[in-house]
Amino acid sequence: MPSSSVVAITLAALLSTIELASAQLLANGDYFQAGNISPTWRWQASGVLYHGRCPFSVASQISDCYQSVLNATGDLESTTQSDYLAAMSSSSAAAAQPTSPARRSINFGGELAARGVFNSSNYAVYRKSMSATQKSAEQRALMDDEDLESYFEAFPDQLPYRFANYMSYTHGSSFKAKRQVIGCGTGGTTTTQPPSSTTTTSAPATSTTATPPSPRQRNEIFTWPGATAGQTWHYTWKSYQSPGTSTSYNFFHSWQILRRDGCGGPVVTLDYLDGNVVIQDTVRGCKDCASYMKHTLGWFGQVIYHDLNITYGLNGSINYLAKVSNALRPGMLRYSATGDMGSSASLKFGAYRRAISGMSPSTSYVGDFTQTQLA
Ligand SMILES: *[C@@H]1O[C@H](CO)[C@@H](O)[C@H](O)[C@H]1NC(C)=O
Ligand SMILES: *[C@@H]1O[C@H](CO)[C@@H](O)[C@H](O)[C@H]1NC(C)=O
Ligand SMILES: *[C@@H]1O[C@H](CO)[C@@H](O)[C@H](O)[C@H]1NC(C)=O
Ligand SMILES: *[C@@H]1O[C@H](CO)[C@@H](O)[C@H](O)[C@H]1NC(C)=O
Repeated sequence: MPSSSVVAITLAALLSTIELASAQLLANGDYFQAGNISPTWRWQASGVLYHGRCPFSVASQISDCYQSVLNATGDLESTTQSDYLAAMSSSSAAAAQPTSPARRSINFGGELAARGVFNSSNYAVYRKSMSATQKSAEQRALMDDEDLESYFEAFPDQLPYRFANYMSYTHGSSFKAKRQVIGCGTGGTTTTQPPSSTTTTSAPATSTTATPPSPRQRNEIFTWPGATAGQTWHYTWKSYQSPGTSTSYNFFHSWQILRRDGCGGPVVTLDYLDGNVVIQDTVRGCKDCASYMKHTLGWFGQVIYHDLNITYGLNGSINYLAKVSNALRPGMLRYSATGDMGSSASLKFGAYRRAISGMSPSTSYVGDFTQTQLA
């Protein structure tokens, strides 16, 4: 069972035994890609993502550090490998070839095998409990947070939790915003029905018309697989956002708790919003639930130490504390809440933003991440 086999991993400790000779390019920004860091950490990147390449001022505080760059233009999450190949071939003199159906790219195992984190024997042990169809469903789910069907196909043991919040959903007290999930319940509705073995109520009849999502850029590292209702996890990580990064009224997540139960979507996020650093809690419906001195000045350009405890499920809780490392201007941001925290959920951090014209590039550094299951 994936959830019970999840072992607390301290990545920094794991990697401390490995020679990190040089920076390693994980994603080059040509199209949206995903890959693995360890059995319980994954990445997705539409921009450039390196393991390493952090300047000394940052690397002196983030020992196992990743560099993440989103360009001012391009680097869109929606760009698939076949889009990229088609653009390359149409810009060359070569005759146009029919392209394969849109597929994003998965880079699963290669770079870690090269580093020695995974080798043929321990990787096989980790993967052997999944069937071939589950593995391919897992890869689809890794590439698309909205592909909940594939997620639950990969992790069928989590299905009993999928519609545990179903009644609160129908009463509108939960899943208030589903920005990340367009048209939930409109496509593949037969498979989004609550399992008949657990409930006799039918799935919500929605007449929402699926609209194309706004252009987005996403470089995120995240826990995998999602944690289910009732589990309690302690996460720590560090981050640094380059000074001068532009913000707007459009979303820009530094981190999010992403749920995959119900219709999926964010539960709690830390956002850079119109010059402010704010916690947004989608389930409880506050947009400025907590903020860091109301401004990104003092937050950008500093290493931030994040500490988050969360119990998933309807009777859940979250306790979050961020500390700004600046010795001259130390600061903190705290947020606590109780209630629905979702299920089959991941912590995701990095930079995920709506792409708008005139925005600045975003360079960020993240690392030293740990996850420990407390209950
Ligand atoms: C970033 O975008 C600029 C245009 O805004 C482009 O000239 C440049 O090549 C891009 N860089 C990368 C690494 O894609
Ligand atoms: C695979 O890696 C593990 C450590 O993660 C090591 O103990 C084992 O000897 C390695 N096996 C091979 C075949 O390299
Ligand atoms: C919710 O959790 C609290 C303590 O964490 C406990 O006292 C309470 O009984 C729980 N409620 C339900 C409905 O499980
Ligand atoms: C999270 O839990 C750990 C272990 O109990 C504790 O040391 C830490 O201070 C907690 N963090 C927050 C933000 O509550």
